[in-house]
Amino acid sequence: MKSIILIGYMGSGKTTVGRQLALALGISFYDLDWYIEMRYHRTVAQIFAERGEQGFREIERNMLHEAAEFENIVLSCGGGTPCFYDNMEYMNSLAETVYLKATPEVLAMHLKMGKVERPLLKGKTEEELLQYIKESLKEREPFYTKAKYTLDVTLLDNYDKIKTSVQLLREQLGV
Ligand code: S3P
Repeated sequence: MKSIILIGYMGSGKTTVGRQLALALGISFYDLDWYIEMRYHRTVAQIFAERGEQGFREIERNMLHEAAEFENIVLSCGGGTPCFYDNMEYMNSLAETVYLKATPEVLAMHLKMGKVERPLLKGKTEEELLQYIKESLKEREPFYTKAKYTLDVTLLDNYDKIKTSVQLLREQLGV
């Protein structure tokens, strides 16, 4: 089976859905941010602080090439991964790619529920966050929509809803 790569904006549920999908399929799950953190012994926030966004993007591309070589896995990427270099074409050449699509309002809710520190969102008020999501989502959608599949995600605020999304995704992928 080809690997499955989940892409989408921060807070779209890539890690949550990816982990459950891998569990249901009995295959390994990787999260690209965690993979980077493990390989570099640094958090993503530290890498941004030490090397800037450009430095992070280079590392992200290199680590994508490492992780995407693993066979038969579910890999969730960072929100920016598809939008730099030829990362999206590279992912499409190797795997089934899925765009987890959500409205800016749902993304903002998920981000508020989560605990991960995201350098690009640091220090924003609720209003600024929503505005930022709306603007950057517009810039990023042309990349995201290159994915082979799209899954519309609603608010994933309980386990049943996560399970439903995973089920819908399995039906689309035929796995
Ligand atoms: C980023 C998303 C983050 C992480 C980094 C940059 C982005 O991953 O890679 O903070 O540019 O959208 P998540 O989408 O898993 O939060």
